[in-house]
Amino acid sequence: MRISQRRALVGQVTGADLREIEGTLDTGGIDPDTADKFVENVLGTYAMPYGVALNVQVNGRDYVVPMVVEEPSVVAAASNAAKMARAGGGFTAEWDPSVMIAQVQVQDVPDVHVAVRKILEHEREILALADDVLGGVTTRGGGARAVEARVLADDVVVAHLLIDCKEAMGANLVNTAAERVANRVAALAGGRVGLRILSNLCDKRCVRVRCRVPAEALATSDLPGGAVIDAIVQASRFAELDPYRAATHNKGIMNGIDAVVLATGNDWRAVEAGAHAYAARKGRYAPLSIWRRDGDYLVGTLELPLALGTVGGTLRVHRAARLSLALLNVKGSGELAAVAASVGLANNLAGLRALATDGVQRGHMAQHARSVALAAGAAGELVERVARMMVDARDIRLETAKQALASLVAFEMPIQQASSR
Ligand code: MEV
Repeated sequence: MRISQRRALVGQVTGADLREIEGTLDTGGIDPDTADKFVENVLGTYAMPYGVALNVQVNGRDYVVPMVVEEPSVVAAASNAAKMARAGGGFTAEWDPSVMIAQVQVQDVPDVHVAVRKILEHEREILALADDVLGGVTTRGGGARAVEARVLADDVVVAHLLIDCKEAMGANLVNTAAERVANRVAALAGGRVGLRILSNLCDKRCVRVRCRVPAEALATSDLPGGAVIDAIVQASRFAELDPYRAATHNKGIMNGIDAVVLATGNDWRAVEAGAHAYAARKGRYAPLSIWRRDGDYLVGTLELPLALGTVGGTLRVHRAARLSLALLNVKGSGELAAVAASVGLANNLAGLRALATDGVQRGHMAQHARSVALAAGAAGELVERVARMMVDARDIRLETAKQALASLVAFEMPIQQASSR
């Protein structure tokens, strides 16, 4: 399809206004004056491709999932693997409440065990202090939920204030609350206030997704589905055994998650920090997902902390972020996290399947061939045809592209002339 046809179709199936889609995505969602309100010393804006992953089904619901990413094949891989997962009923997901952690560091503590006891004894008072500054979120059913205290050293204690941020990512709420309760917490501990800031290791706000893919959906032209299952399980074991591999395995997951996080105006650095800290939580860096065989099915599970917002922050000012949420039509931040994580698991599956069978270079070659076809002067649908001819011939060079283009044009011109007569 052409871009205009895709926009019309996506508008039709999601109910999003076509003029809003066009107006937003022609400009990228913010102009320089708006960008000037976001950050400092602004010179302009920086555009990225905005695509949609298809075939994504989570808890029985279909989604058109916006992805902002510069890496070729990521959107196609997500769509392709989501289709395989769909053959087994799609993704199932569950998520925790939107509880974030505010940290208050207290130093020069005379007796850390007494400090912990006193902080915990005054939990209700601390929660009330925090709720006082949390404003609107408490009226929406959120607010401060609990206090924890941990000993970090002989003279250092950290208090954790757990706050349900509902539909917000929560960084501002949590930091405000941390600053509000800090003096009281330090006084209770008999020490001095240190840092007051959220933790990006938001492990009270995890999402868990799962898919069950039938063998036949995984088969390649060379390998039956059962063999692909075995190869993917071995690839999973490799990541479980080796942090060097686990890092790349998780990168494949984050290809999908980050693209959705970015498209919806969320803080991908926070998500990345949380994901990798979580991956290392047992003292050794590990894969965030695991793949196993269950009879004739491949079962994948993924768990990670995912703090996403559907209100506030960037969403207030970024038209494209708002458009993404309109396309997704999610009810809240937990559902958004479930969709993002499902896309992450899809990208992980696509990556492992490619690596465990043909290797990824074949797919990358197709993309490279498109660039070479463009450089040779191909336009419109000829780009894809010239690229395919080169891939089939396993000969991707500018000269080959020019020859392929010339032969297509020579063949097609007489046909076009005949049909216009
Ligand atoms: C490339 O962006 C992602 C992969 O390297 C992930 C993986 O190795 O699993 C293909």
